[in-house]
Amino acid sequence: MASFTLNGKPTQVDVDPGTPLLWVLREQVGLTGTKYGCGVAQCGACTVHVDGKPVRSCSVAVSDVEGKKLTTIEGLAKNGVLNKVQKAWLEHDVPQCGFCQAGMIMAVTALLNEKPKPTDADIDAAITNICRCGTFQQVREAIHAAARA
Ligand code: FES
Ligand code: FES
Repeated sequence: MASFTLNGKPTQVDVDPGTPLLWVLREQVGLTGTKYGCGVAQCGACTVHVDGKPVRSCSVAVSDVEGKKLTTIEGLAKNGVLNKVQKAWLEHDVPQCGFCQAGMIMAVTALLNEKPKPTDADIDAAITNICRCGTFQQVREAIHAAARA
């Protein structure tokens, strides 16, 4: 059994404590916005927030988030209003296939919470997510636009 707050709701799941958080989110809870890319903490497709920090959920056991506050891409919008990163993503037409983008948006949201006006060097250091469609330039432009919003 594991208990945590997920997108503002108290949540309990009956799973082996070593189960990766990604699979708990996708299979036990049914939130499939968080994606499986590599499974070894390299690509960032599975990024969620744990107590506000970006975490690659494929590589975290559910027991490690006991009692913590989790946010997934499904929990970013508040009362149907997208956050400024999501809005910038739409305005800059960032996604191509979209597969990496939920993780990208979660990582960028965490970066802007930490550093509201990131430099290109800050972006390079913090956003190491992999996009096979090569949206990196659009991602950078949209981050700067979100920082100005
Ligand atoms: S699936 Fe988790 S980092 Fe790639
Ligand atoms: S938009 Fe296709 S992998 Fe990033």
